[in-house]
Amino acid sequence: MDLYAAIRGRRSVRRFGAAPIDRAVLKRIIEAATWAPSGGNAQTWRFVIVTEPARIARLKTVSPGLIGEPGVVVAVCQDLADARAKGSTLGEVLLAPCDAAMAAQNLLLAAYAEGLGTCTVASFTRKAVARLLKLPETVEPILLVSVGVPNETPKAPDRKTEGILEEAGVQSPRLTALRQEIDKGKYSVTVGPDEFKAFLDALVDTFVDYLDPASTGENAQ
Ligand SMILES: Cc1cc2nc3c(=O)[nH]c(=O)nc-3n(C[C@H](O)[C@H](O)[C@H](O)COP(=O)(O)O)c2cc1C
Repeated sequence: MDLYAAIRGRRSVRRFGAAPIDRAVLKRIIEAATWAPSGGNAQTWRFVIVTEPARIARLKTVSPGLIGEPGVVVAVCQDLADARAKGSTLGEVLLAPCDAAMAAQNLLLAAYAEGLGTCTVASFTRKAVARLLKLPETVEPILLVSVGVPNETPKAPDRKTEGILEEAGVQSPRLTALRQEIDKGKYSVTVGPDEFKAFLDALVDTFVDYLDPASTGENAQ
């Protein structure tokens, strides 16, 4: 399957048929998840595969976002102690959820290529899911992914393009905040606020000129 066709064609599916999912297919899509990139190649994700209908039903009672009757639910988890050990606070707080999301996307696309429907689910009670899945203390469920034979063809929701920025220039929220604080008189600046702002402008211009000599300095805020 063409990659762009898969990226565009995949939909969140919330109605599933009763047909079982082949174990070999399941194995392939989980393996695809493990081929996702991870920060520092930490691979601190853990995948819990739930196939027993009674266990899926129990998960649903604590997961308002888990809709329909999927044949399989994959809990994409992170061992946060492992993530911290490998990447310190950044690893635990940022890389772990990012890595889980990347793995989940691989899983969704691979499942789509296999003719299966999926839905990412974040709306669930983490503590309850962790208990139902008997996860070790340090392992947290980040996302649930329902997987099943699709029984609907959802229409693609529109995609927004205004979030795509090109050459947005130097954006410095800290500098903007500093300027506002100076305006409010938070700092006693001996050269005076106007001179100090001019100094900051010059600083940004100088830095941008240094990075890109062809720049006119208009990138500076
Ligand atoms: C992080 C994340 C959490 C989501 N949580 C839920 C959820 O709890 N329940 C649900 O039905 N769909 C959930 N979705 C699916 C989104 O509603 C869906 O991706 C979005 O509407 C776009 O539709 P599409 O996936 O068909 O392109 C989630 C998606 C993401 C990426």
